[in-house]
Amino acid sequence: MTSPSAVMATTERLFRERFGSDGDLHLGWSPGRVNLIGEYTDLSNGFVLPMAIDLGLCVVLRSRQKPGLSLFATAFDEAVELSHMSADLTDIPGWARYLLGVVVLSREAGLSADGYDIVVNADMPLAGGVSSSAALTTATAMAVQSALASPLTPEASAQLCQAVEHRFAGVRCGIMDQMACRLGAPDSALFLDCASLAHHHLPMPRESAEILIVGSGVSRSLSESAYNQRRAECEEALAIIQQDGTRASDLRDVSAETLLRIEARLPVPLNQRVRHIVHENARVVAAHNALSQGAYVEFGALMNQSHESLRDDFEVSIGELDHIVATANRCVGVFGARLTGAGFGGNAIVLTQPGLTEDVMVKIANGFEQRFGRKPWMHRVQAATSAAGFPVLSPRTPSV
Ligand code: GLA
Repeated sequence: MTSPSAVMATTERLFRERFGSDGDLHLGWSPGRVNLIGEYTDLSNGFVLPMAIDLGLCVVLRSRQKPGLSLFATAFDEAVELSHMSADLTDIPGWARYLLGVVVLSREAGLSADGYDIVVNADMPLAGGVSSSAALTTATAMAVQSALASPLTPEASAQLCQAVEHRFAGVRCGIMDQMACRLGAPDSALFLDCASLAHHHLPMPRESAEILIVGSGVSRSLSESAYNQRRAECEEALAIIQQDGTRASDLRDVSAETLLRIEARLPVPLNQRVRHIVHENARVVAAHNALSQGAYVEFGALMNQSHESLRDDFEVSIGELDHIVATANRCVGVFGARLTGAGFGGNAIVLTQPGLTEDVMVKIANGFEQRFGRKPWMHRVQAATSAAGFPVLSPRTPSV
């Protein structure tokens, strides 16, 4: 991992090399995120407890009068030229759609420039489950808002980035990732009510618990239809529950008592999906209370229950993630573990006792290699600060 300031300096240098140094440059930075608990609950406006992490992504841009976009992404070593900004996505590579989406929706929100030159440079795995797409849209939005000196509220900016996912990537995601990237804070988790967007930070000092992310090595990029299918199942279940006379605007309004009453009337697998959402929301509230009291053993137990529910009821786990979680839970010094994010691949999160993490890493890596024939990607993360956008100071002319 490189420090954010080093990534920013590199991105600025690459921008100047590619597009020159004329005009005002603006920089956007966004962290990635890891979710501690509360998976898929954002889709039914429930509770989540994510954290912004110290892996992130940087965008440097300059607004220009020539219409269109000139884009370059170091991660793909790929340049894209768009002569005009429209929502026509034909032949546009995936990463460039996110940038186009932010620019188009910013124009719809009244933030307009004719065109932009943009360089993107990442210090995080892409399509690897730490929300690189939310970091990409967030960093771009921060840079655009800086360039036009028109900051949106964090909530409005996060909603714009969420809308980019819906309209330009076809993923009907919730608001968790975008809010986490925009509102994270060092040594803290973010408790978020996805209905009202009310939120607060909960201290999670690194001296009390360490966070390990372990990658399954299975890319999630093909899973978008499965993600949308889970959302559709939740919506179908809600419609049945409402027809049944239960007053609920969202699955978050379904209590554990109501669940007991209606569960048998829901067909398989809709009953399982609702069971996960109802209990997961309750787990996030319990996890919030445990964290407030520094009760990490209790917190870890809730993480384990969350994983079981995602595996058995929501059915978004895979063998690699189950293996990581099971191995972690056999190690001394592990509070708990679970898959984090959308599943179908991606990452697991392991919460460990400081001082014992190295040993846990070795055991997970060896167990995984024995079973799957390759070492997993692993990263010990810390809670990082939120996204930012600001003007880049012009390079000084050296005085003679
Ligand atoms: C993805 C989505 C989020 C959320 C998680 C699952 O990360 O972008 O909105 O639904 O999956 O909790």
